[in-house]
Amino acid sequence: MSIDPALLDNLAKRRATIAAAGGTDKLAARNAKGIHGARERLQLLFDADTFQEFGAHAQHTCHRFGMEKKELPYDGVVTGTGYIAGRQVAAFSQDFTVSGGSLGFIHAKKIWDLLDYAGKVGIPVVGVNDSGGARIQEAVSALSGYAGIFYRNVALSGVVPQISVIAGPCAGGAAYSPALTDFIIMTKSNSNLFICGPEVIKAATGEQASLDQFATAAAHASISGNIHLVAEDDKHALELSARLLSFLPQNNLQDPPHHLAAPVPLADVPAFNDIIPATNKEAYDVKQVVNLLADDGDFFEVQAAYAPNIVIGFCRIAGVSVGIIANQPNHKAGVLDINASDKAARFIRTCNVFNVPVVNLVDVGGFMPGLAQERGGIIRHGAKMLFAYSSATVPKITVILRKAYGGAYIAMCPVELGADAVFAWPTAEIAVMGAPGAAGVIFKGDIEKAGLASPEAEAARKEGKDEKEVKKIALASSAAKEKRAEIIAAYEAEFSTPYQAASLNMVTDVITPAETRKVVALALRNTLSKRQDRPKKKHGNIPL
Ligand code: HXC
Repeated sequence: MSIDPALLDNLAKRRATIAAAGGTDKLAARNAKGIHGARERLQLLFDADTFQEFGAHAQHTCHRFGMEKKELPYDGVVTGTGYIAGRQVAAFSQDFTVSGGSLGFIHAKKIWDLLDYAGKVGIPVVGVNDSGGARIQEAVSALSGYAGIFYRNVALSGVVPQISVIAGPCAGGAAYSPALTDFIIMTKSNSNLFICGPEVIKAATGEQASLDQFATAAAHASISGNIHLVAEDDKHALELSARLLSFLPQNNLQDPPHHLAAPVPLADVPAFNDIIPATNKEAYDVKQVVNLLADDGDFFEVQAAYAPNIVIGFCRIAGVSVGIIANQPNHKAGVLDINASDKAARFIRTCNVFNVPVVNLVDVGGFMPGLAQERGGIIRHGAKMLFAYSSATVPKITVILRKAYGGAYIAMCPVELGADAVFAWPTAEIAVMGAPGAAGVIFKGDIEKAGLASPEAEAARKEGKDEKEVKKIALASSAAKEKRAEIIAAYEAEFSTPYQAASLNMVTDVITPAETRKVVALALRNTLSKRQDRPKKKHGNIPL
């Protein structure tokens, strides 16, 4: 006996309805604008024919406001798993053609179930957000739906990588699910991300603000720092998701996909020798160092436009997947300010939870001085870096390129914060502060004394000038200037080098810049088996 053809016909009809999404006309209209449908997006994400859908026949349960007459295919969200470069990944994709991708209870439950599945199977999640937000007709059920998603985003945090793609509207409380994930990628046009829109802002504060000013990918990438990557379009956003995942493990119990068959490079790379400028007041682009370190010069930077005084991103060094944290002398002289501290601390913790070793490139003159920084809580924000590095148990390799001054030196992971190896270039200046500042503080008396004995000061005294005026003239005298220069030179010779720190065993080795790739590659290989247990506790209390 074979199956009743009517049953097959029924299934085929249902499948056709599902394939038509919210309407073939709506799909065509979106395609005409260069926007892909929810299913097309998953096809772009996954290896061909690997997608397995969960809940294609799901339907909403709302019986009010005319909803009882509406059929919403798969309740507006496509969920399931597929493979990216041969590795299994869970994904959901909200379908704007189905009631604006709005989130009702079943829509939410499908996402809950997907997140639960990802947690138990131990695979990353990519969520494509394109939704008008809470389905207004479903009221509190929709809110419950979001709450359950947030709860699961948090439960999965540090367990499996979670990536959010914003490829349409993502407004109000809906924005908090992406915010709870590890990375947010946003398409350049056709997407926005905000809590309160222009009308609400105007009504509440009287401010006139357009979405362009605060809700676009450009605004979030450079001003709010809410997102990590800007994509040209849907396809690019999904490619970026795959690229991110290529550096990360499937879950926190695995190592990242290191390519350990790659040989450790043994040859010097002379180009490293030409990067540091002749004087320490000159800037340079630290990405030159990163590009020379990375296999094939292939560095995948994240949050490039936000707090560019620190550079973060992934690469492979002799096949080892690593996170790079580098001060950028080309922007604000590479100082650590509030935003740079937040950016770096978060990235260090992302690397740590996913067992990605970190390589720190140090050229930092200090924390950013200023009233706004002090009032903004630079103490609390800077402390996040100290906390993140100290609590990270992944291999930590630090290379001091040039300046490593004061608290900022400590915030970039010296041996005392658990660096497994610290290498310094001969140009390294490991000190409490730069020589001019130090001379002005600890040798102030000597400089004054030299000035007061100068002919200029003597002449001022004879003219009967008061003590304050004499002192001013004394400090401007050539004798005082000479003394100051002499002291700075002596301080630089003694402290603005790596050798004092090296003599105290705080530096593993002083290396030529040309040796850097070889030395770092070897140190990474040597520490890959690192295991470091900490006392059991619920979690540390990072300053937030
Ligand atoms: C129900 C919705 C909807 C929603 C859109 N639709 N948003 N249905 N609930 N939240 C439906 C529309 O009725 C329409 O249905 C279809 O989706 C397409 O919407 P349009 O308005 O025609 O599209 P467009 O002009 O492109 O505008 C898109 C939009 C707009 C900007 C997203 O629809 C909009 O402003 N929606 C409401 C946004 C909102 O206020 N959401 C609640 C946020 S608060 P038809 O049947 O005509 O095709 C929130 C709280 C979460 O989310 C709290 C969590 C803690």
